[in-house]
Amino acid sequence: MLSRRRFVQSILAFAILPKQLLQAKGFLSPNVFRVPPLEFGKRVGKDVFFDLDIRSGKSAILPNRLTSTLGINQKFLGVTLRASKGDRVHIKVKNNIHRTTTLHWHGAKLPAKSDGGPHQPIKPSHTWLSEFEIIQPAATLWYHSHQMHETGFQVYHGLSGMFIVDDDESKKLGLPLDYGVDDFPVIIQDKDFNRDGSFKYISDFRDKLMGKKGETILVNGVISPVLKATKSLIRLRLLNGSNSRTYHLNFDDGRMFNIIASDGGLLEKPEMAHSIKLAPAERAEILVDVSDGKMPILRHKMHQQKSANRMTGMMMMQQAQGKKLEFDIFQIDASGVSSSSKKVPKYLVQHDTPSMRSIVRKRTFKLQMQMGPQLMMGAVSGSKDLLQINGKSMKINRIDEVVKAGSIELWEIENTSMMAHPFHIHNVQFKIISRRGKIKGHELGFKDVVLVRPHETVQVLIEFPKFSDAKTPYMYHCHILEHEDRGMMGQFVVV
Ligand code: C2O
Ligand code: CU
Ligand code: CU
Repeated sequence: MLSRRRFVQSILAFAILPKQLLQAKGFLSPNVFRVPPLEFGKRVGKDVFFDLDIRSGKSAILPNRLTSTLGINQKFLGVTLRASKGDRVHIKVKNNIHRTTTLHWHGAKLPAKSDGGPHQPIKPSHTWLSEFEIIQPAATLWYHSHQMHETGFQVYHGLSGMFIVDDDESKKLGLPLDYGVDDFPVIIQDKDFNRDGSFKYISDFRDKLMGKKGETILVNGVISPVLKATKSLIRLRLLNGSNSRTYHLNFDDGRMFNIIASDGGLLEKPEMAHSIKLAPAERAEILVDVSDGKMPILRHKMHQQKSANRMTGMMMMQQAQGKKLEFDIFQIDASGVSSSSKKVPKYLVQHDTPSMRSIVRKRTFKLQMQMGPQLMMGAVSGSKDLLQINGKSMKINRIDEVVKAGSIELWEIENTSMMAHPFHIHNVQFKIISRRGKIKGHELGFKDVVLVRPHETVQVLIEFPKFSDAKTPYMYHCHILEHEDRGMMGQFVVV
């Protein structure tokens, strides 16, 4: 309760509505939930043509102030792209901003040349064409800038959006699928602002070292919005689009929900849960039953017990600095819902999980952060070599691994550092095979990011798609964008 009051007050610093009115109605904030425009492209049979334009603008995020933002086909953040399995997409990206950028299709299986990583930079006023066939099942993918050393800055300012893949199999399940009606993108990001309304990105060496965390949460670019639900069963496509913050999401009234999908698409069956942990770049789709007509708030909050046990040194440090550890994210107003014809299915899809016996190669990746006096020195001097994988910092001209197209491998990711790192691999959807503790919830599904906790080792099973290109690498990296930008990234080619 206390935290709610504090939250409402911080919103009220900007709000126009009188406090009494807000509290009387029980609403978190006067902001309306924003659904990013949907873009289907121009279709000619199986060929789908998208025209994207990376631009800058001024956006009204705070009341009475404008924020300089970046966006794709709009001023802030990207439009939602939507295509189907079997489509051949042709995405033309025009760079209309004053810095070199890229657009990477995160989670997609595709030829390296179309990946949109650091090897496909788009100079100002240049155009890049990315073409690939969608060979993977229905999923909530996303796209974002991947410019070398600038990904953190560019994503923070708005260069990210959602990419929804559909397929026939998932359509038959009768899941909520009406975009903006009972199926909603929920892009969660945290920002800080300067007094003039501009985004405040890196301000000290701690932001560089631990990753940038903001104290204001945006959902689809809006501060703590209220979603007026019209259907009693809604699907939320949650995307943690934050630079470095991991969220423990649950509802303030403790209601349960069904997790139906992970990064790579639908799970085999819905998993009931009352909370879900999402690290940067992770996605999960959940079904929420709001037939009770209430007004639940989705928030970021660790369990009482857990947070007491798990209060890490870093959290204590943040608390000591007066930083918030809990946030309300957005609210659902279900007071006007009509009953939905949709139900939660018993089973979803069957996974084609590769067999352990087919593993042809095992590789180990050690995630390392130099600690101690070196760290302080390096942080002060701005050295890029503090963050490494297997003793190496990212070098754009060095290929670190060579993988055989179509092969099945076991990758073991070992975190030797004191903080958690979300490890991401391009071009694949893997299964988590082993980790500390039980594998549950969305982690049972196909993944392209996995959070590796301090001193934890996680094993993932990967089947590499058959695209091969000896010259153009894909990336694997920590998805804390400040870590990626500072060298916690490596390159592999598939041949
Ligand atoms: Cu989401 Cu290499 O990126
Ligand atoms: Cu990626
Ligand atoms: Cu990291």
